[in-house]
Amino acid sequence: MPEITLEKVKQLLAREEERYAVERPKSRALYEEARRFFVAGVPMTWMRIWPGGFPIFAREARGARLTDVDGHRYLDLCLGDTGALLGHSPPELVAPLAEQLTRGITSLLPTEDCIWVGRELSRRFGLPYWQILMTASDANRMALRVAREMTGRKLILAFNASYHGSVDETLVVDFFGTLMHIPGSMGPVVDDPAKMTRVIEFNDSGALEKALAPGDIACVITEPVMTNVGIIHPEPGYHDALRALTRRYGTLLLIDETHSICGGPAGMTGELNLEPDLLVLGKPIAGGYPAAVLGFNREIGERLGRRVPWHNFFGFGGTLSGNAAAVAAIRATLTHLLTKESFERTIPLARKMEEGITAIISKNNLPWYVARVGCRVEFRFMAQPPRRGGDTLAGEVEYNAVDVINEGLSGPLEILFHLYCTNRGILLSPVHDMALVSPGTTAEDVNRYLAVLEACIQELLA
Ligand SMILES: Cc1ncc(COP(=O)(O)O)c(C=O)c1O
Repeated sequence: MPEITLEKVKQLLAREEERYAVERPKSRALYEEARRFFVAGVPMTWMRIWPGGFPIFAREARGARLTDVDGHRYLDLCLGDTGALLGHSPPELVAPLAEQLTRGITSLLPTEDCIWVGRELSRRFGLPYWQILMTASDANRMALRVAREMTGRKLILAFNASYHGSVDETLVVDFFGTLMHIPGSMGPVVDDPAKMTRVIEFNDSGALEKALAPGDIACVITEPVMTNVGIIHPEPGYHDALRALTRRYGTLLLIDETHSICGGPAGMTGELNLEPDLLVLGKPIAGGYPAAVLGFNREIGERLGRRVPWHNFFGFGGTLSGNAAAVAAIRATLTHLLTKESFERTIPLARKMEEGITAIISKNNLPWYVARVGCRVEFRFMAQPPRRGGDTLAGEVEYNAVDVINEGLSGPLEILFHLYCTNRGILLSPVHDMALVSPGTTAEDVNRYLAVLEACIQELLA
């Protein structure tokens, strides 16, 4: 039976890298120019993680399509890694946002829209009090500070290999038995990460009880379904155990819906009937306009409300948070875009994508798996889906020839799929073989993506 060899992967990768560079002279030239002014040649170093040696410079993006400065038109399945989950610049967002932009962007004063937004967030997610921040990282940082203040405890519990943004406490990993700052972390706050964070594996109620029992954990931070080390679904009963144990040991529960909002209009919190004490949602909450929301249970909200206002802004938020334009954008997004109807369109297409990739994998006898949550679909080069973050780390090292410490989670095979797709007009998320289905994605788009994957696999097996 034919096998995919590293030699073949590297051979195809070299060909695709060359094609990528030759077909994008303008992006390449702009990148060379940008290097004179920007660290790593990009306005934010995140933009340097795309494969290909230099990033595509975008000219325009609408719905599920993006055009670059060289005139290539892409089907965008990356969608800003969830920020544009609801499509680029949807008219339902642009019109009210533009209208607000002409009436003042930021004033350090609330606007009337916030009443509607607060009421709707409470209705959707079941938490009575809210704050509006700029990003999910911001909101998670605030949530963890609040949790420490409310409980009088210092430690945070995070699941291994999870990601919650630029949040010191969660940039910690248990790397094959050693607790460490994530490789490459810059200027960590403390030398010993154990002073901030206890890390255990997801889906292990026994380990959870052991970790909470000493009574020193302020907060458990988790995605309802893990999305950043492969999609990892909670096993039956796990969320019940998580809620019961956090309550038993006086630990607050923070659910981060920033990615899992792809599961429905109230994210996986809604789908799984979860009852968090704190909830964070960033990225698509304002259709990609910078904003994030943080919900609090009644007790926390009321205790925070009784504090001297002056004391509530040290350590989180900022003068731009909750600005008029962001609140208008959240209102428009919740009204028109983050709706049941939207998911009724995107989830069946994502299912079709999942089934299509499953069929390709099984037809070609590949030891890979596919996973989906809502309208997010991902395949990885491991035979079995991981149950825990540590499984993914181990699998990537073994199957994708990855040096996790130096290169992150992308190995040559993953990079090849990205470039192969990019060169054929399809953008995948740069950090996984992950695709998002937006309301503008069509069944033909899904078929085209499947055909490109199949072609790449045929070349690898030839
Ligand atoms: C689950 C989760 N939470 C929070 C964040 C941070 O979002 P941002 O980078 O927009 O602050 C991310 C980013 O990928 C994420 O995946």
